[in-house]
Amino acid sequence: MDLVWITVAFFFFCKCLECLGTAKEWTYAGAVGQTEWAEFFPDCGGSSQSPINVDTSQTLYDPMLIPVQPLGYNHYGNRPFTLYNNGHTVQMTLPHWMSVAGLPWHYSAVQLHLHWGSEVGVATGSEHTINGHSTAAELHIVHYNTEIYANMSEAKTQENGLAVLAILIEAGEEINQGYGSILNYLGHIRYAGQKVAIPAFDINLLLPDNLSQYFRYNGSLTTPPCHQSVLWTIFNERVKISHSQLMKIQTVLYSSKEEEAEPMALQDNYRTTQPLNRRTVLSSFIPGMIWKLKFKGIVDLNDML
Ligand SMILES: *[C@@H]1O[C@H](CO)[C@@H](O)[C@H](O)[C@H]1NC(C)=O
Ligand SMILES: *[C@@H]1O[C@H](CO)[C@@H](O)[C@H](O)[C@H]1NC(C)=O
Ligand SMILES: *[C@@H]1O[C@H](CO)[C@@H](O)[C@H](O)[C@H]1NC(C)=O
Ligand SMILES: [Zn+2]
Repeated sequence: MDLVWITVAFFFFCKCLECLGTAKEWTYAGAVGQTEWAEFFPDCGGSSQSPINVDTSQTLYDPMLIPVQPLGYNHYGNRPFTLYNNGHTVQMTLPHWMSVAGLPWHYSAVQLHLHWGSEVGVATGSEHTINGHSTAAELHIVHYNTEIYANMSEAKTQENGLAVLAILIEAGEEINQGYGSILNYLGHIRYAGQKVAIPAFDINLLLPDNLSQYFRYNGSLTTPPCHQSVLWTIFNERVKISHSQLMKIQTVLYSSKEEEAEPMALQDNYRTTQPLNRRTVLSSFIPGMIWKLKFKGIVDLNDML
């Protein structure tokens, strides 16, 4: 009798270990979906999480915020880049000589990846929102602090360890050749775990024209383990890709491996916005001014502002 109970107890003990084991395999929806992340990854329940909604009526203009300067983004060399479907996103490793200046420290580039939704014609898919508005997708270019830390794995858990450039992506009529340098190869990495070598290209082509207008705040990785180590820069200017390019991102990739019986679409890989709590969001410009300048000559909005 006792032996039976011991066996039963042991069975459940093992089952439990198994469930903890698979919990490392987080997802966006479902049993280990984003509302459960904090249970398995404590930092995800922290008070300085990302992404956030940027409320431009609450941002603080900081004239000391100089334009972001990508360094070596156009020195792509002659070795191919590697594109990887990691089951959560499409990720591309960046050469170590690419870096970014204009931030409080020097940060070296590590990788870039995308977040997106599931429906063409619906502007959801970005992680950050501005005044409550999402865009169709968002690019993250991840860098680590080389002045304080030895490498990415050390930096990503530490304060001031990472700097991420966030680019909001909208759908439009024209094909974006820069983004095409990535999107044209998604068909080679449809399943999780697949990699493909692609021709190197100028990473500047992925950025908006205006690098002087952005929002800046302290936050976290937007995926588990959600370490609160990221200095975020969200550019105010959006970039555009074509509707068919957007559809390609949304429909070509699977989050499942090739050998799995039921392919699972890799879609809606964005986290919902997190509470700002006591944080301040700085802006390098006065948001209202831009609006005024943009419409100058068409309507005089001075009275309205
Ligand atoms: C990163 O740096 C730390 C500290 O110097 C070191 O212990 C660790 O092995 C390094 N990790 C990698 C992946 O290079
Ligand atoms: C960026 O915007 C600022 C402010 O509107 C403007 O002065 C500057 O010329 C713009 N730069 C580029 C590269 O468009
Ligand atoms: C981010 O946090 C650091 C302290 O670690 C602080 O010095 C800095 O001002 C903060 N930056 C922003 C934009 O809030
Ligand atoms: Zn990201």
